[in-house]
Amino acid sequence: SQIKKSRSTNSKKTIYMRSIDVCLTHQDFDNYDHKGKIVVVIDVLRATSTINTLLFLGADHVKPIGSLEECKNLKDHDYIIMAERLGKKVDGFDYGNSPTKLREKDIRGKKVAIATSNGSKAIIKSEGSEYTILCSFLNIKSVINFIKASESDVILLCSGWLGKTNLEDTLCAGGIIAGLENFEIESDTALIAKALHDKTNNILETMRLSSHAKRLSGYDNQIDIEFCSRVNTQPIVPILKENKIVLS
Ligand code: MLT
Repeated sequence: SQIKKSRSTNSKKTIYMRSIDVCLTHQDFDNYDHKGKIVVVIDVLRATSTINTLLFLGADHVKPIGSLEECKNLKDHDYIIMAERLGKKVDGFDYGNSPTKLREKDIRGKKVAIATSNGSKAIIKSEGSEYTILCSFLNIKSVINFIKASESDVILLCSGWLGKTNLEDTLCAGGIIAGLENFEIESDTALIAKALHDKTNNILETMRLSSHAKRLSGYDNQIDIEFCSRVNTQPIVPILKENKIVLS
C-alpha cells in the first residue's frame, strides 16, 4: 500500500494528503509508478471525448485497441470498428474518431472497438492502476467528483500527440487539479498544467491554438473542436474494466 503523506494540524488531527501528478505524453508513462493509483486518461481531441460520447449514446462497451489489424478483426465478432490515424478515418473501418459524426448513428447497446493514434494506446498503458477513468471537458466535473469520492493517489495521463506534449490535454489536466483541494501537487508538470488552466479564460479559443486543432481544421473539422470544448455536457465517468470501457 502507498505511504500516505501526513500533515499535522494544531488540533493534532492528522490529515493524509493525497498526491496528484501529471504525465504529459503516454510515451513518458513508463517513468511513473501507477500501481494502485487512479489513472485519469485525457485525450480531449478526440479519443476520450469520442468514447464518452459512445457511452453517452448508449453503447454497451468500448474496447481500446493498439493496432489497426487487431481492431479490424473484431468486425467478425460483431463490433463496430473505429480507427483514426493522423486525424483521419482509416479506410475499411466503419467510422473514424469524430464524436459529432456519431450522433446520427445507431449506437445503443452496441459493442465498439477503437484504435486511435494516441488515446487508445494511453488507455492500454494504464493497466495495473487501481482505477482507470476517462476525462475530457465533456465530463470534467464528474471526474473531479469521482476522484473526491476515492482515496488513492492520482496520475493524470495526457495522451499527447505522437510523443509530444499537447495544449488541450494539459489544459484539461489543469482543470482537474483546479477542482481539487488538499492534494499534494507532486511535480512541475502538475504545476505547469495548473498554471495553464489558471491563465485560460476561454477553453475553445485556447484549444483552437493547438497543433492538433489546426490539423483537424485542415480537414474542415472545426465542428469536433467546438464540440470537444463544451464543459460538463455529458456528465458520465467512463471506467476501464477487464479491457472494456463501460459506465462507472
Ligand atoms: C488520438 O488518439 O491521437 C486522437 O484521438 C486523434 C484524433 O482523434 O484526431
